[in-house]
Amino acid sequence: MSDIPTPSPGPSPRPAVRAVHIPVLLKETLAALDLKPGMTVVDGTVGAGGHSRKIIEAIRPGGRLIGLDRDPMMLRLAADNIGEAPDVILKQSSYAELDQVLEELALPAVDRVLVDLGLSSDQLADRERGFGFKVGGTLDLRFDVRQGRSASELLRTEGVQELTDIFRDFGEESNAHRIAHAIVQQRASAPISTAEQLARLVEQSSPGRRGDTHPATRVFQALRIAVNEELEQLQRLLNDVGPRRIAPGGRLVVISFHSLEDRYVKDAFRETERWEPLTKKPVTATPTEERLNPRSRSAKLRSAVRR
Ligand SMILES: C[S@@+](CC[C@H](N)C(=O)[O-])C[C@H]1O[C@@H](n2cnc3c(N)ncnc32)[C@H](O)[C@@H]1O
Repeated sequence: MSDIPTPSPGPSPRPAVRAVHIPVLLKETLAALDLKPGMTVVDGTVGAGGHSRKIIEAIRPGGRLIGLDRDPMMLRLAADNIGEAPDVILKQSSYAELDQVLEELALPAVDRVLVDLGLSSDQLADRERGFGFKVGGTLDLRFDVRQGRSASELLRTEGVQELTDIFRDFGEESNAHRIAHAIVQQRASAPISTAEQLARLVEQSSPGRRGDTHPATRVFQALRIAVNEELEQLQRLLNDVGPRRIAPGGRLVVISFHSLEDRYVKDAFRETERWEPLTKKPVTATPTEERLNPRSRSAKLRSAVRR
Protein backbone atom coordinates (compact mmCIF):
# COMPACT_ATOMS: atom_id res chain seq x y z
CA MET A 1 0.00 0.00 0.00
CA SER A 2 1.38 3.44 -0.81
CA ASP A 3 0.17 7.00 -1.18
CA ILE A 4 -0.04 8.30 -4.70
CA PRO A 5 2.54 10.89 -5.69
CA THR A 6 1.39 14.30 -4.47
CA PRO A 7 0.73 16.68 -7.36
CA SER A 8 2.87 19.82 -7.33
CA PRO A 9 1.28 22.91 -5.79
CA GLY A 10 -0.28 25.60 -7.95
CA PRO A 11 -2.80 25.11 -10.74
CA SER A 12 -3.05 21.36 -11.20
CA PRO A 13 -1.72 20.31 -14.61
CA ARG A 14 -4.27 18.43 -16.71
CA PRO A 15 -3.18 14.87 -17.47
CA ALA A 16 -2.65 13.90 -21.09
CA VAL A 17 -5.51 11.41 -20.86
CA ARG A 18 -8.90 12.50 -19.54
CA ALA A 19 -11.14 9.95 -17.85
CA VAL A 20 -13.51 8.31 -20.31
CA HIS A 21 -15.16 5.87 -17.89
CA ILE A 22 -18.86 6.53 -17.21
CA PRO A 23 -19.86 5.35 -13.72
CA VAL A 24 -22.56 2.66 -13.87
CA LEU A 25 -25.80 2.68 -11.85
CA LEU A 26 -24.79 6.02 -10.29
CA LYS A 27 -28.24 7.03 -9.02
CA GLU A 28 -28.95 3.50 -7.77
CA THR A 29 -25.55 3.30 -6.03
CA LEU A 30 -26.13 6.57 -4.17
CA ALA A 31 -29.60 5.37 -3.11
CA ALA A 32 -28.16 2.08 -1.85
CA LEU A 33 -25.38 3.84 0.06
CA ASP A 34 -27.88 6.18 1.79
CA LEU A 35 -25.19 8.74 2.61
CA LYS A 36 -25.31 11.42 5.30
CA PRO A 37 -22.97 14.30 6.12
CA GLY A 38 -20.19 13.20 8.47
CA MET A 39 -19.94 9.59 7.25
CA THR A 40 -16.67 7.78 6.54
CA VAL A 41 -16.94 5.99 3.22
CA VAL A 42 -14.56 3.63 1.45
CA ASP A 43 -14.73 3.55 -2.33
CA GLY A 44 -12.76 0.31 -2.67
CA THR A 45 -12.42 0.60 -6.46
CA VAL A 46 -12.16 4.33 -6.93
CA GLY A 47 -11.15 4.10 -10.62
CA ALA A 48 -11.44 7.51 -12.24
CA GLY A 49 -13.57 8.71 -9.32
CA GLY A 50 -16.94 8.76 -11.07
CA HIS A 51 -18.86 7.42 -8.06
CA SER A 52 -16.56 9.10 -5.54
CA ARG A 53 -17.22 12.61 -6.86
CA LYS A 54 -20.87 12.22 -5.91
CA ILE A 55 -20.12 10.40 -2.64
CA ILE A 56 -17.94 13.23 -1.34
CA GLU A 57 -20.66 15.80 -2.09
CA ALA A 58 -23.16 13.77 -0.03
CA ILE A 59 -20.94 13.27 3.05
CA ARG A 60 -19.74 16.88 3.36
CA PRO A 61 -19.43 18.55 5.77
CA GLY A 62 -17.58 16.41 8.26
CA GLY A 63 -17.30 13.23 6.18
CA ARG A 64 -14.27 11.45 4.83
CA LEU A 65 -13.75 9.54 1.60
CA ILE A 66 -11.11 6.81 1.39
CA GLY A 67 -10.56 5.88 -2.26
CA LEU A 68 -8.58 2.72 -3.01
CA ASP A 69 -7.35 1.26 -6.26
CA ARG A 70 -4.70 -1.32 -7.10
CA ASP A 71 -3.76 0.63 -10.21
CA PRO A 72 -1.66 3.81 -9.70
CA MET A 73 -2.67 5.08 -13.15
CA MET A 74 -6.31 5.09 -12.01
CA LEU A 75 -5.43 6.88 -8.77
CA ARG A 76 -3.87 9.71 -10.77
CA LEU A 77 -7.07 10.04 -12.79
CA ALA A 78 -9.12 9.91 -9.57
CA ALA A 79 -7.01 12.66 -7.99
CA ASP A 80 -7.58 14.83 -11.02
CA ASN A 81 -11.29 14.08 -11.21
CA ILE A 82 -12.15 14.41 -7.50
CA GLY A 83 -9.65 17.15 -6.66
CA GLU A 84 -7.34 17.41 -3.69
CA ALA A 85 -8.99 18.01 -0.33
CA PRO A 86 -8.27 17.20 3.30
CA ASP A 87 -11.35 14.96 3.48
CA VAL A 88 -10.25 12.82 0.51
CA ILE A 89 -7.63 10.10 1.01
CA LEU A 90 -6.46 8.15 -2.05
CA LYS A 91 -4.29 5.07 -1.60
CA GLN A 92 -2.86 2.34 -3.77
CA SER A 93 -4.28 -0.77 -2.17
CA SER A 94 -6.65 -3.63 -2.79
CA TYR A 95 -9.99 -3.30 -1.06
CA ALA A 96 -9.20 -6.73 0.41
CA GLU A 97 -6.39 -5.04 2.37
CA LEU A 98 -8.76 -2.67 4.13
CA ASP A 99 -7.36 -3.79 7.49
CA GLN A 100 -3.96 -2.24 6.78
CA VAL A 101 -5.51 0.92 5.30
CA LEU A 102 -7.70 1.50 8.36
CA GLU A 103 -4.90 0.63 10.78
CA GLU A 104 -2.71 3.32 9.20
CA LEU A 105 -5.54 5.81 9.62
CA ALA A 106 -6.27 4.59 13.17
CA LEU A 107 -9.88 3.91 12.22
CA PRO A 108 -11.61 0.86 13.72
CA ALA A 109 -14.52 0.78 11.25
CA VAL A 110 -16.28 2.72 8.50
CA ASP A 111 -19.90 3.54 7.66
CA ARG A 112 -20.04 2.52 4.01
CA VAL A 113 -18.03 0.45 1.54
CA LEU A 114 -18.62 0.48 -2.23
CA VAL A 115 -16.91 -1.79 -4.74
CA ASP A 116 -17.53 -1.47 -8.48
CA LEU A 117 -15.67 -4.50 -9.75
CA GLY A 118 -13.62 -5.26 -12.84
CA LEU A 119 -12.01 -2.96 -15.32
CA SER A 120 -12.34 0.76 -16.00
CA SER A 121 -12.82 1.95 -19.58
CA ASP A 122 -9.73 4.10 -18.97
CA GLN A 123 -7.57 1.00 -18.57
CA LEU A 124 -8.56 -0.34 -21.99
CA ALA A 125 -6.30 2.15 -23.78
CA ASP A 126 -3.18 1.23 -21.78
CA ARG A 127 -0.79 -0.59 -24.16
CA GLU A 128 1.63 -1.30 -21.29
CA ARG A 129 -0.67 -3.97 -19.92
CA GLY A 130 -2.81 -5.08 -22.87
CA PHE A 131 -6.25 -4.79 -21.22
CA GLY A 132 -7.86 -3.75 -24.48
CA PHE A 133 -6.92 -6.43 -26.95
CA LYS A 134 -8.21 -4.28 -29.80
CA VAL A 135 -5.68 -1.63 -28.74
CA GLY A 136 -3.01 -4.31 -28.23
CA GLY A 137 0.20 -4.11 -26.25
CA THR A 138 2.11 -6.17 -23.70
CA LEU A 139 0.09 -9.09 -22.39
CA ASP A 140 0.24 -8.31 -18.66
CA LEU A 141 -3.34 -7.68 -17.43
CA ARG A 142 -2.37 -6.94 -13.81
CA PHE A 143 -3.94 -3.96 -12.03
CA ASP A 144 -0.83 -3.74 -9.84
CA VAL A 145 2.25 -4.88 -11.76
CA ARG A 146 4.20 -5.30 -8.51
CA GLN A 147 2.04 -8.25 -7.50
CA GLY A 148 1.60 -11.76 -8.85
CA ARG A 149 2.25 -13.11 -12.34
CA SER A 150 1.53 -11.43 -15.66
CA ALA A 151 -0.88 -13.05 -18.14
CA SER A 152 1.97 -13.91 -20.54
CA GLU A 153 3.80 -15.68 -17.71
CA LEU A 154 0.66 -17.60 -16.85
CA LEU A 155 0.25 -18.65 -20.49
CA ARG A 156 3.89 -19.77 -20.54
CA THR A 157 3.66 -21.99 -17.45
CA GLU A 158 0.18 -23.46 -16.99
CA GLY A 159 -0.85 -26.77 -18.57
CA VAL A 160 -3.77 -27.40 -20.95
CA GLN A 161 -6.09 -28.45 -18.13
CA GLU A 162 -5.36 -25.41 -15.93
CA LEU A 163 -5.81 -23.03 -18.88
CA THR A 164 -9.05 -24.78 -19.88
CA ASP A 165 -10.38 -24.36 -16.33
CA ILE A 166 -9.48 -20.65 -16.30
CA PHE A 167 -11.17 -19.94 -19.66
CA ARG A 168 -14.25 -22.01 -18.78
CA ASP A 169 -14.72 -20.95 -15.15
CA PHE A 170 -13.81 -17.26 -15.38
CA GLY A 171 -14.75 -16.61 -19.02
CA GLU A 172 -17.62 -19.07 -19.54
CA GLU A 173 -15.80 -19.84 -22.80
CA SER A 174 -17.32 -22.80 -24.63
CA ASN A 175 -14.16 -23.31 -26.74
CA ALA A 176 -11.94 -23.37 -23.64
CA HIS A 177 -10.16 -26.65 -24.31
CA ARG A 178 -9.46 -25.93 -27.96
CA ILE A 179 -8.02 -22.49 -27.14
CA ALA A 180 -5.89 -23.88 -24.28
CA HIS A 181 -4.55 -26.58 -26.57
CA ALA A 182 -3.67 -24.02 -29.29
CA ILE A 183 -1.81 -21.89 -26.72
CA VAL A 184 0.29 -24.80 -25.51
CA GLN A 185 1.12 -25.79 -29.09
CA GLN A 186 2.03 -22.23 -30.06
CA ARG A 187 4.29 -21.58 -27.06
CA ALA A 188 6.45 -24.56 -27.97
CA SER A 189 7.82 -22.48 -30.87
CA ALA A 190 7.49 -18.91 -29.52
CA PRO A 191 6.09 -17.32 -26.32
CA ILE A 192 2.80 -15.40 -26.46
CA SER A 193 3.77 -11.99 -25.15
CA THR A 194 1.41 -9.50 -26.79
CA ALA A 195 -2.34 -8.95 -26.68
CA GLU A 196 -2.44 -8.99 -30.50
CA GLN A 197 -0.82 -12.46 -30.62
CA LEU A 198 -3.30 -13.93 -28.17
CA ALA A 199 -6.32 -12.29 -29.82
CA ARG A 200 -5.24 -13.72 -33.20
CA LEU A 201 -4.69 -17.18 -31.77
CA VAL A 202 -8.12 -17.20 -30.12
CA GLU A 203 -9.72 -16.02 -33.34
CA GLN A 204 -8.02 -18.82 -35.28
CA SER A 205 -9.18 -21.37 -32.66
CA SER A 206 -12.80 -20.17 -32.82
CA PRO A 207 -13.89 -20.91 -36.40
CA GLY A 208 -17.32 -19.77 -37.48
CA ARG A 209 -17.74 -17.43 -34.48
CA ARG A 210 -19.99 -14.52 -35.41
CA GLY A 211 -21.66 -11.87 -33.32
CA ASP A 212 -21.18 -8.52 -31.63
CA THR A 213 -18.41 -9.62 -29.26
CA HIS A 214 -14.91 -10.47 -30.44
CA PRO A 215 -14.07 -14.14 -29.80
CA ALA A 216 -11.16 -13.08 -27.54
CA THR A 217 -13.34 -11.04 -25.15
CA ARG A 218 -14.06 -13.95 -22.78
CA VAL A 219 -10.49 -15.23 -22.80
CA PHE A 220 -9.07 -11.81 -21.87
CA GLN A 221 -11.68 -11.44 -19.12
CA ALA A 222 -10.81 -14.89 -17.76
CA LEU A 223 -7.07 -14.19 -17.75
CA ARG A 224 -7.58 -10.81 -16.05
CA ILE A 225 -9.69 -12.42 -13.32
CA ALA A 226 -7.05 -15.13 -12.85
CA VAL A 227 -3.92 -12.93 -12.69
CA ASN A 228 -5.54 -10.43 -10.33
CA GLU A 229 -7.15 -13.17 -8.20
CA GLU A 230 -10.32 -11.12 -8.45
CA LEU A 231 -12.66 -13.73 -6.99
CA GLU A 232 -10.40 -14.37 -3.99
CA GLN A 233 -10.24 -10.61 -3.31
CA LEU A 234 -14.03 -10.38 -3.42
CA GLN A 235 -14.45 -13.38 -1.09
CA ARG A 236 -12.11 -11.75 1.43
CA LEU A 237 -14.15 -8.56 1.39
CA LEU A 238 -17.49 -10.33 1.70
CA ASN A 239 -16.63 -12.92 4.32
CA ASP A 240 -13.74 -11.51 6.31
CA VAL A 241 -12.64 -7.90 6.13
CA GLY A 242 -16.06 -6.42 5.28
CA PRO A 243 -17.94 -7.87 8.25
CA ARG A 244 -15.11 -6.84 10.59
CA ARG A 245 -14.53 -3.32 9.28
CA ILE A 246 -18.03 -2.11 8.48
CA ALA A 247 -19.66 -0.70 11.62
CA PRO A 248 -22.97 -2.21 12.77
CA GLY A 249 -25.70 -0.46 10.78
CA GLY A 250 -23.15 0.32 8.05
CA ARG A 251 -23.60 -0.78 4.43
CA LEU A 252 -21.76 -2.71 1.76
CA VAL A 253 -22.68 -2.06 -1.89
CA VAL A 254 -21.24 -4.30 -4.62
CA ILE A 255 -21.55 -3.80 -8.38
CA SER A 256 -20.48 -6.91 -10.26
CA PHE A 257 -20.18 -7.79 -13.94
CA HIS A 258 -19.69 -11.54 -13.85
CA SER A 259 -22.13 -14.29 -12.86
CA LEU A 260 -19.64 -15.89 -10.45
CA GLU A 261 -19.07 -12.58 -8.68
CA ASP A 262 -22.80 -11.98 -8.35
CA ARG A 263 -23.30 -15.48 -6.97
CA TYR A 264 -20.61 -14.90 -4.31
CA VAL A 265 -22.28 -11.65 -3.28
CA LYS A 266 -25.74 -13.23 -3.16
CA ASP A 267 -24.46 -16.17 -1.08
CA ALA A 268 -22.52 -13.96 1.33
CA PHE A 269 -25.55 -11.73 1.97
CA ARG A 270 -27.51 -14.87 2.92
CA GLU A 271 -25.40 -15.11 6.10
CA THR A 272 -28.15 -13.37 7.99
CA GLU A 273 -26.37 -13.16 11.31
CA ARG A 274 -23.89 -10.84 9.55
CA TRP A 275 -25.88 -9.12 6.83
CA GLU A 276 -29.38 -7.85 6.26
CA PRO A 277 -29.73 -7.82 2.47
CA LEU A 278 -31.41 -4.76 0.98
CA THR A 279 -31.76 -6.30 -2.49
CA LYS A 280 -33.63 -9.57 -3.04
CA LYS A 281 -32.90 -9.33 -6.73
CA PRO A 282 -29.93 -7.39 -8.09
CA VAL A 283 -30.55 -3.85 -9.29
CA THR A 284 -29.77 -3.52 -13.02
CA ALA A 285 -29.48 -0.64 -15.48
CA THR A 286 -32.51 1.00 -17.06
CA PRO A 287 -32.89 0.67 -20.86
CA THR A 288 -31.81 4.31 -21.16
CA GLU A 289 -28.58 3.72 -19.22
CA GLU A 290 -27.90 0.57 -21.24
CA ARG A 291 -28.24 2.57 -24.43
CA LEU A 292 -26.00 5.40 -23.22
CA ASN A 293 -23.40 3.15 -21.56
CA PRO A 294 -23.21 -0.39 -23.02
CA ARG A 295 -20.89 -1.43 -20.16
CA SER A 296 -23.89 -1.14 -17.79
CA ARG A 297 -25.71 -4.03 -19.52
CA SER A 298 -24.06 -6.69 -17.39
CA ALA A 299 -23.91 -4.66 -14.15
CA LYS A 300 -25.67 -6.07 -11.08
CA LEU A 301 -25.87 -4.14 -7.83
CA ARG A 302 -26.51 -5.78 -4.47
CA SER A 303 -26.39 -4.12 -1.07
CA ALA A 304 -26.68 -5.14 2.55
CA VAL A 305 -26.64 -3.65 6.03
CA ARG A 306 -24.06 -4.95 8.52
CA ARG A 307 -25.99 -6.24 11.53
C1 LIG B 1 -15.08 -0.44 -12.84
S1 LIG B 1 -13.68 0.41 -12.33
C2 LIG B 1 -14.29 1.52 -11.11
C3 LIG B 1 -14.86 2.76 -11.70
C4 LIG B 1 -15.26 3.82 -10.69
N1 LIG B 1 -16.35 3.37 -9.85
C5 LIG B 1 -15.62 5.10 -11.40
O1 LIG B 1 -16.80 5.47 -11.36
O2 LIG B 1 -14.75 5.73 -11.99
C6 LIG B 1 -12.86 -0.76 -11.37
C7 LIG B 1 -11.56 -0.27 -10.75
O3 LIG B 1 -11.23 -1.18 -9.69
C8 LIG B 1 -9.85 -1.38 -9.66
N2 LIG B 1 -9.68 -2.66 -8.95
C9 LIG B 1 -9.92 -3.90 -9.40
N3 LIG B 1 -9.73 -4.80 -8.42
C10 LIG B 1 -9.40 -4.11 -7.31
C11 LIG B 1 -9.10 -4.46 -5.96
N4 LIG B 1 -9.10 -5.73 -5.54
N5 LIG B 1 -8.84 -3.48 -5.08
C12 LIG B 1 -8.81 -2.17 -5.47
N6 LIG B 1 -9.08 -1.77 -6.74
C13 LIG B 1 -9.37 -2.74 -7.65
C14 LIG B 1 -9.41 -1.34 -11.09
O4 LIG B 1 -8.05 -0.98 -11.20
C15 LIG B 1 -10.35 -0.26 -11.66
O5 LIG B 1 -9.74 1.00 -11.62
